[in-house]
Amino acid sequence: MRKRMNRSFASRLDGWDVPHGRSSWPLAQPFAIGDVTIPNRVVQPPLAGIANWAFRAQSRRHGVGLAVSEMVSSHGVVHDNQRTNHMLDTGHDDGLVSIQLFGAHPHVMADAARRAADQGADILDINMGCPVKKVCKTGAGAAMLTDPEVGARVVAAMVAAVDIPVTVKMRRGLTPATSDPVTAARRFVDAGAAAIFFHPRTASEEYTGRADHSHTAELVAAVDVPVIASGDIDTPLEALRIVEEVGASAVAIGRPAFGNPWLFAEVLHGDRRAPSELSDVVDEIARFGADVRDALGETRGCAYMRKFYPWYLAGFDVPGAERDELMIAPTLDHAIALLRQLATQDALQPAS
Ligand SMILES: Cc1cc2nc3c(=O)[nH]c(=O)nc-3n(C[C@H](O)[C@H](O)[C@H](O)COP(=O)(O)O)c2cc1C
Repeated sequence: MRKRMNRSFASRLDGWDVPHGRSSWPLAQPFAIGDVTIPNRVVQPPLAGIANWAFRAQSRRHGVGLAVSEMVSSHGVVHDNQRTNHMLDTGHDDGLVSIQLFGAHPHVMADAARRAADQGADILDINMGCPVKKVCKTGAGAAMLTDPEVGARVVAAMVAAVDIPVTVKMRRGLTPATSDPVTAARRFVDAGAAAIFFHPRTASEEYTGRADHSHTAELVAAVDVPVIASGDIDTPLEALRIVEEVGASAVAIGRPAFGNPWLFAEVLHGDRRAPSELSDVVDEIARFGADVRDALGETRGCAYMRKFYPWYLAGFDVPGAERDELMIAPTLDHAIALLRQLATQDALQPAS
């Protein structure tokens, strides 16, 4: 009999004991951003290089109530850059989609906002968190937190330009010593922001340590719009804590769902959904890969999927030679065939 490749969940046992006897699971309740009702409190955040329509569709299939795009350059939009325009395409989104724009010039951001709204965005988000030099040196991303007035002018210009809600996604500040997220967020809300996405690390901290959501709790107490918490929300119980104790209206889940889109449904329902058999994981990769090929074409799609294989295979004891072969597979079909072969191989042992 063939032994099928399984993975171990040993490292993920914490955070799964959802309290029994609850009459309702809060993450499954709707909430509103401006006049848009989000059907639940699980959000897929903006992710540069990741959150194209294929990724957003997958996140939605697994239950997110709102999916956000990759960050899109406002200058690219107004200069009609072809690849940038492609990022505004919401034709494949069959649920709520927010398009995130970056840029520090109110007029440019307002023009780009009009275009994104015309292309079917339900919500627009402003990037005030990106720590990358290339973005910050133009005054955009986290650099906008240096002077909240700059961000507030951008918010006001976009709010005046479109009739859909405009939100802000911000980090805590540039450095721990200079950060004052409460003052900044209040200013953005005064300028018309309908919600704040909050990642409580500063730009200088990049992704180090663990996100400290006590800062999120302070922000929630200071503004009267929904706060969507982002950062290290990796189990249903952590999501529950963020909503019930921290007071956030919703959770945004990025890296913890890379290669594990089932986490969205687990957080949404409070139970375990991730498959333990590699064959089920491969079915998911195949479905996702087909959309990726539609979105990006074979060559770019193949390169994009290479980021994902190690994430999907985490916990499976796949030998190095097979992993290497997967990473150089010339087509998506080739990669899927390799994965299917792996899933039914006799010799492979479950990871311990
Ligand atoms: C690969 C990658 C790309 C990201 N791109 C963006 C982006 O375009 N805009 C943005 O506001 N945040 C971006 N972020 C930050 C995430 O939205 C999120 O706030 C952060 O990863 C913390 O959440 P997590 O621990 O759930 O990943 C990115 C993060 C990663 C890892």
